[in-house]
Amino acid sequence: MKVTIVGAGNVGATCADVISYRGIASEVVLLDIKEGFAEGKAMDISQCATTTGFNTRVVGSTNDYTKTAGSDVVVITSGIPRKPGMTREELIGINAGIVKGVAENVLKHSPDAIIVVVSNPMDTMTYLTLKATGLPKNRIIGMGGALDSSRFKYYLSKALNKPSNDVDGMVIGGHGDTTMIPLTRLASYCGTPVSTYLSQEEMDKVAADTMVGGATLTGLLGTSAWYAPGASVAYLVDSILNDQRKMIPCSVLLEGEYGQNDICLGVPCIIGKNGIESIVDVKLNDAEKALFAKSADAVRAMNGDLKSVLV
Ligand code: LAC
Repeated sequence: MKVTIVGAGNVGATCADVISYRGIASEVVLLDIKEGFAEGKAMDISQCATTTGFNTRVVGSTNDYTKTAGSDVVVITSGIPRKPGMTREELIGINAGIVKGVAENVLKHSPDAIIVVVSNPMDTMTYLTLKATGLPKNRIIGMGGALDSSRFKYYLSKALNKPSNDVDGMVIGGHGDTTMIPLTRLASYCGTPVSTYLSQEEMDKVAADTMVGGATLTGLLGTSAWYAPGASVAYLVDSILNDQRKMIPCSVLLEGEYGQNDICLGVPCIIGKNGIESIVDVKLNDAEKALFAKSADAVRAMNGDLKSVLV
Protein backbone atom coordinates (compact mmCIF):
# COMPACT_ATOMS: atom_id res chain seq x y z
CA MET A 1 0.00 0.00 0.00
CA LYS A 2 1.40 3.34 -1.09
CA VAL A 3 0.54 6.79 0.19
CA THR A 4 1.71 10.09 -1.28
CA ILE A 5 1.69 13.21 0.83
CA VAL A 6 2.00 16.42 -1.14
CA GLY A 7 3.43 19.18 1.02
CA ALA A 8 6.22 18.16 3.42
CA GLY A 9 5.51 20.96 5.89
CA ASN A 10 4.59 20.36 9.51
CA VAL A 11 1.27 18.60 8.85
CA GLY A 12 2.51 16.53 5.89
CA ALA A 13 5.70 15.40 7.62
CA THR A 14 3.88 14.54 10.87
CA CYS A 15 1.40 12.51 8.87
CA ALA A 16 4.27 10.63 7.17
CA ASP A 17 5.85 10.06 10.57
CA VAL A 18 2.66 8.61 12.12
CA ILE A 19 1.89 6.46 9.06
CA SER A 20 5.40 5.01 9.17
CA TYR A 21 5.60 4.58 12.92
CA ARG A 22 2.28 2.76 12.98
CA GLY A 23 3.05 0.70 9.86
CA ILE A 24 -0.15 1.88 8.13
CA ALA A 25 1.40 1.77 4.61
CA SER A 26 4.38 -0.03 3.07
CA GLU A 27 5.54 3.10 1.24
CA VAL A 28 5.12 6.81 1.89
CA VAL A 29 6.21 9.41 -0.68
CA LEU A 30 6.65 12.95 0.59
CA LEU A 31 6.65 15.61 -2.12
CA ASP A 32 7.42 19.31 -1.80
CA ILE A 33 8.31 22.19 -4.11
CA LYS A 34 11.07 23.42 -1.80
CA GLU A 35 14.36 21.99 -3.09
CA GLY A 36 15.62 19.12 -0.91
CA PHE A 37 13.03 19.67 1.83
CA ALA A 38 10.96 16.52 1.32
CA GLU A 39 14.14 14.47 0.86
CA GLY A 40 15.40 15.78 4.19
CA LYS A 41 12.15 15.05 6.03
CA ALA A 42 11.96 11.56 4.50
CA MET A 43 15.57 10.84 5.48
CA ASP A 44 15.01 12.05 9.04
CA ILE A 45 11.85 9.93 9.44
CA SER A 46 13.56 6.90 7.84
CA GLN A 47 16.35 7.10 10.40
CA CYS A 48 13.78 6.29 13.12
CA ALA A 49 13.12 2.87 11.56
CA THR A 50 15.51 0.90 13.75
CA THR A 51 14.83 2.73 17.00
CA THR A 52 11.05 2.82 16.78
CA GLY A 53 10.92 -0.38 14.73
CA PHE A 54 9.06 0.15 11.48
CA ASN A 55 9.48 -1.13 7.94
CA THR A 56 7.67 1.53 5.93
CA ARG A 57 9.80 2.92 3.10
CA VAL A 58 9.76 6.72 3.22
CA VAL A 59 10.80 8.52 0.04
CA GLY A 60 11.22 12.26 -0.43
CA SER A 61 11.08 14.15 -3.70
CA THR A 62 11.30 17.73 -4.92
CA ASN A 63 8.23 17.96 -7.12
CA ASP A 64 8.93 14.78 -9.15
CA TYR A 65 5.44 13.33 -9.51
CA THR A 66 6.74 10.18 -11.23
CA LYS A 67 7.84 9.05 -7.72
CA THR A 68 4.19 9.13 -6.64
CA ALA A 69 3.02 6.71 -9.35
CA GLY A 70 0.56 4.03 -8.30
CA SER A 71 -0.42 5.59 -4.98
CA ASP A 72 -3.53 4.19 -3.33
CA VAL A 73 -4.11 7.36 -1.34
CA VAL A 74 -2.85 10.89 -1.99
CA VAL A 75 -2.97 13.47 0.79
CA ILE A 76 -2.88 17.13 -0.26
CA THR A 77 -1.54 19.46 2.42
CA SER A 78 -0.05 22.01 -0.02
CA GLY A 79 -0.53 25.73 0.37
CA ILE A 80 0.22 28.29 3.00
CA PRO A 81 -0.90 27.71 6.60
CA ARG A 82 -2.60 30.41 8.60
CA LYS A 83 -0.71 32.84 10.78
CA PRO A 84 -1.97 34.26 14.10
CA GLY A 85 -5.05 36.41 13.56
CA MET A 86 -5.81 34.91 10.15
CA THR A 87 -8.87 32.79 9.45
CA ARG A 88 -8.62 29.62 7.36
CA GLU A 89 -10.89 31.38 4.85
CA GLU A 90 -8.33 34.11 4.13
CA LEU A 91 -6.08 31.53 2.47
CA ILE A 92 -8.46 30.80 -0.38
CA GLY A 93 -6.91 32.93 -3.14
CA ILE A 94 -3.41 31.51 -2.79
CA ASN A 95 -4.31 27.92 -1.96
CA ALA A 96 -6.97 27.33 -4.62
CA GLY A 97 -4.54 27.53 -7.54
CA ILE A 98 -1.98 25.38 -5.72
CA VAL A 99 -4.44 22.65 -4.75
CA LYS A 100 -5.95 22.44 -8.25
CA GLY A 101 -2.51 22.05 -9.84
CA VAL A 102 -1.48 19.39 -7.35
CA ALA A 103 -4.68 17.38 -7.82
CA GLU A 104 -4.19 17.36 -11.60
CA ASN A 105 -0.56 16.30 -11.30
CA VAL A 106 -1.15 13.45 -8.86
CA LEU A 107 -3.93 11.97 -10.97
CA LYS A 108 -1.64 11.76 -14.00
CA HIS A 109 0.45 9.20 -12.11
CA SER A 110 -2.12 7.67 -9.75
CA PRO A 111 -5.39 7.66 -11.70
CA ASP A 112 -7.12 5.40 -9.18
CA ALA A 113 -6.05 7.17 -6.00
CA ILE A 114 -8.37 8.31 -3.26
CA ILE A 115 -7.59 11.94 -2.49
CA VAL A 116 -7.60 13.35 1.03
CA VAL A 117 -7.72 17.15 1.11
CA VAL A 118 -6.20 18.93 4.11
CA SER A 119 -5.33 22.38 2.70
CA ASN A 120 -7.41 25.28 3.99
CA PRO A 121 -10.08 26.49 3.72
CA MET A 122 -10.61 22.74 3.71
CA ASP A 123 -14.29 22.39 2.74
CA THR A 124 -13.82 24.77 -0.18
CA MET A 125 -10.58 23.07 -1.26
CA THR A 126 -12.39 19.71 -1.16
CA TYR A 127 -15.17 21.11 -3.36
CA LEU A 128 -12.55 22.58 -5.71
CA THR A 129 -10.72 19.25 -5.99
CA LEU A 130 -13.96 17.46 -6.74
CA LYS A 131 -14.99 19.95 -9.43
CA ALA A 132 -11.52 20.27 -10.97
CA THR A 133 -10.91 16.51 -11.24
CA GLY A 134 -14.44 15.31 -11.98
CA LEU A 135 -13.79 12.25 -9.81
CA PRO A 136 -16.68 10.40 -8.17
CA LYS A 137 -17.54 11.77 -4.73
CA ASN A 138 -16.35 8.69 -2.84
CA ARG A 139 -12.76 9.42 -3.91
CA ILE A 140 -12.50 12.98 -2.57
CA ILE A 141 -12.42 13.27 1.21
CA GLY A 142 -11.91 16.47 3.18
CA MET A 143 -10.07 15.99 6.47
CA GLY A 144 -11.36 18.29 9.18
CA GLY A 145 -14.00 16.45 11.17
CA ALA A 146 -11.55 13.86 12.50
CA LEU A 147 -9.31 16.65 13.82
CA ASP A 148 -12.13 18.82 15.15
CA SER A 149 -13.67 15.77 16.86
CA SER A 150 -10.33 14.93 18.49
CA ARG A 151 -10.15 18.49 19.82
CA PHE A 152 -13.78 18.23 21.01
CA LYS A 153 -12.94 15.04 22.91
CA TYR A 154 -9.88 16.73 24.40
CA TYR A 155 -11.93 19.66 25.74
CA LEU A 156 -14.66 17.27 26.94
CA SER A 157 -12.08 15.20 28.82
CA LYS A 158 -10.69 18.36 30.44
CA ALA A 159 -14.16 19.53 31.52
CA LEU A 160 -15.08 16.07 32.83
CA ASN A 161 -11.62 15.47 34.27
CA LYS A 162 -11.70 12.01 32.74
CA PRO A 163 -9.39 10.23 30.24
CA SER A 164 -9.83 11.28 26.59
CA ASN A 165 -10.35 7.71 25.44
CA ASP A 166 -13.37 7.31 27.75
CA VAL A 167 -15.02 10.22 25.94
CA ASP A 168 -16.80 10.13 22.59
CA GLY A 169 -18.19 12.91 20.46
CA MET A 170 -18.37 14.29 16.98
CA VAL A 171 -18.02 17.62 15.19
CA ILE A 172 -19.89 18.17 11.93
CA GLY A 173 -20.35 21.17 9.61
CA GLY A 174 -17.55 23.31 8.22
CA HIS A 175 -13.90 23.23 9.31
CA GLY A 176 -14.00 26.90 10.33
CA ASP A 177 -14.00 28.82 13.60
CA THR A 178 -17.63 29.84 13.15
CA THR A 179 -18.91 27.01 10.94
CA MET A 180 -18.08 23.85 12.90
CA ILE A 181 -20.77 22.19 15.01
CA PRO A 182 -19.65 20.18 18.07
CA LEU A 183 -22.60 17.88 18.82
CA THR A 184 -22.63 18.21 22.62
CA ARG A 185 -26.13 16.69 22.85
CA LEU A 186 -24.76 13.37 21.55
CA ALA A 187 -21.39 13.42 23.34
CA SER A 188 -20.82 10.64 25.85
CA TYR A 189 -18.62 9.49 28.70
CA CYS A 190 -18.38 5.66 28.86
CA GLY A 191 -21.73 5.31 27.16
CA THR A 192 -23.51 7.86 29.34
CA PRO A 193 -24.55 11.35 28.15
CA VAL A 194 -22.07 14.07 29.14
CA SER A 195 -25.07 16.20 30.14
CA THR A 196 -25.25 13.94 33.22
CA TYR A 197 -22.02 15.50 34.47
CA LEU A 198 -21.72 18.91 32.81
CA SER A 199 -24.04 21.92 33.00
CA GLN A 200 -25.30 23.55 29.80
CA GLU A 201 -22.88 26.39 30.47
CA GLU A 202 -19.94 23.96 30.74
CA MET A 203 -20.98 22.16 27.56
CA ASP A 204 -21.31 25.48 25.72
CA LYS A 205 -17.77 26.38 26.84
CA VAL A 206 -16.45 23.03 25.55
CA ALA A 207 -18.15 23.70 22.19
CA ALA A 208 -16.79 27.26 22.00
CA ASP A 209 -13.24 26.14 22.88
CA THR A 210 -13.44 23.38 20.26
CA MET A 211 -14.54 25.79 17.54
CA VAL A 212 -11.51 28.02 18.04
CA GLY A 213 -9.25 25.07 18.87
CA GLY A 214 -7.10 25.60 15.76
CA ALA A 215 -6.93 29.38 16.28
CA THR A 216 -5.85 28.89 19.90
CA LEU A 217 -2.94 26.75 18.75
CA THR A 218 -2.04 29.15 15.95
CA GLY A 219 -1.86 31.92 18.55
CA LEU A 220 0.39 29.85 20.81
CA LEU A 221 2.63 28.38 18.10
CA GLY A 222 2.81 31.29 15.66
CA THR A 223 1.66 28.97 12.87
CA SER A 224 -1.00 26.33 12.30
CA ALA A 225 -0.91 23.16 14.44
CA TRP A 226 0.55 19.87 13.17
CA TYR A 227 0.64 16.96 15.66
CA ALA A 228 -3.13 16.44 15.88
CA PRO A 229 -3.75 17.39 12.22
CA GLY A 230 -1.05 14.95 11.02
CA ALA A 231 -2.29 12.16 13.30
CA SER A 232 -5.89 12.77 12.20
CA VAL A 233 -4.92 12.36 8.54
CA ALA A 234 -3.07 9.13 9.40
CA TYR A 235 -6.18 7.87 11.25
CA LEU A 236 -8.26 8.52 8.14
CA VAL A 237 -5.69 6.93 5.81
CA ASP A 238 -5.59 3.85 8.08
CA SER A 239 -9.36 3.43 7.79
CA ILE A 240 -9.09 3.64 3.98
CA LEU A 241 -6.05 1.41 3.40
CA ASN A 242 -7.08 -1.23 5.92
CA ASP A 243 -10.77 -1.04 5.02
CA GLN A 244 -11.67 -0.45 8.66
CA ARG A 245 -15.02 1.14 7.83
CA LYS A 246 -14.74 3.50 10.78
CA MET A 247 -17.33 6.24 11.13
CA ILE A 248 -15.41 9.50 10.81
CA PRO A 249 -16.85 12.96 10.15
CA CYS A 250 -15.42 14.08 6.80
CA SER A 251 -16.11 16.79 4.27
CA VAL A 252 -17.93 15.13 1.37
CA LEU A 253 -20.15 16.19 -1.52
CA LEU A 254 -23.72 16.33 -0.30
CA GLU A 255 -26.48 15.40 -2.72
CA GLY A 256 -29.58 15.89 -0.64
CA GLU A 257 -28.10 14.49 2.58
CA TYR A 258 -28.62 16.79 5.57
CA GLY A 259 -30.79 18.98 3.33
CA GLN A 260 -27.86 20.22 1.22
CA ASN A 261 -26.73 19.97 -2.39
CA ASP A 262 -23.63 20.94 -4.39
CA ILE A 263 -21.43 21.56 -1.36
CA CYS A 264 -18.72 19.66 0.52
CA LEU A 265 -19.34 19.78 4.25
CA GLY A 266 -18.52 17.67 7.31
CA VAL A 267 -20.90 14.81 8.03
CA PRO A 268 -20.32 11.35 9.55
CA CYS A 269 -19.07 8.92 6.89
CA ILE A 270 -18.11 5.27 6.79
CA ILE A 271 -14.51 5.26 5.57
CA GLY A 272 -13.16 2.15 3.84
CA LYS A 273 -11.22 0.93 0.81
CA ASN A 274 -13.42 2.90 -1.57
CA GLY A 275 -12.99 6.10 0.41
CA ILE A 276 -16.44 7.36 1.38
CA GLU A 277 -18.40 4.10 1.60
CA SER A 278 -21.56 5.84 2.79
CA ILE A 279 -22.87 8.89 4.59
CA VAL A 280 -24.52 8.23 7.95
CA ASP A 281 -27.78 10.02 8.54
CA VAL A 282 -27.65 11.14 12.16
CA LYS A 283 -30.96 12.65 13.22
CA LEU A 284 -30.31 16.27 14.16
CA ASN A 285 -32.71 18.31 16.25
CA ASP A 286 -34.09 21.60 14.95
CA ALA A 287 -31.37 23.73 16.56
CA GLU A 288 -28.61 21.52 15.09
CA LYS A 289 -30.31 21.55 11.67
CA ALA A 290 -30.37 25.36 11.78
CA LEU A 291 -26.65 25.47 12.65
CA PHE A 292 -25.89 23.06 9.80
CA ALA A 293 -27.83 25.20 7.31
CA LYS A 294 -26.01 28.32 8.53
CA SER A 295 -22.66 26.56 8.19
CA ALA A 296 -23.57 25.50 4.64
CA ASP A 297 -24.50 29.09 3.75
CA ALA A 298 -21.08 30.34 4.89
CA VAL A 299 -19.15 27.63 3.05
CA ARG A 300 -21.27 28.07 -0.08
CA ALA A 301 -20.51 31.79 -0.10
CA MET A 302 -16.82 30.97 0.07
CA ASN A 303 -17.10 28.43 -2.75
CA GLY A 304 -18.32 31.34 -4.88
CA ASP A 305 -14.77 32.71 -4.74
CA LEU A 306 -13.60 29.69 -6.75
CA LYS A 307 -15.20 30.88 -9.98
CA SER A 308 -11.97 32.29 -11.43
CA VAL A 309 -10.03 29.10 -10.58
CA LEU A 310 -12.63 26.69 -11.92
CA VAL A 311 -12.90 28.12 -15.44
C1 LAC B 1 -6.09 23.20 12.13
C2 LAC B 1 -5.72 23.34 10.70
C3 LAC B 1 -4.97 22.17 10.20
O1 LAC B 1 -7.29 23.19 12.43
O2 LAC B 1 -6.85 23.59 9.91
O3 LAC B 1 -5.18 23.08 12.97
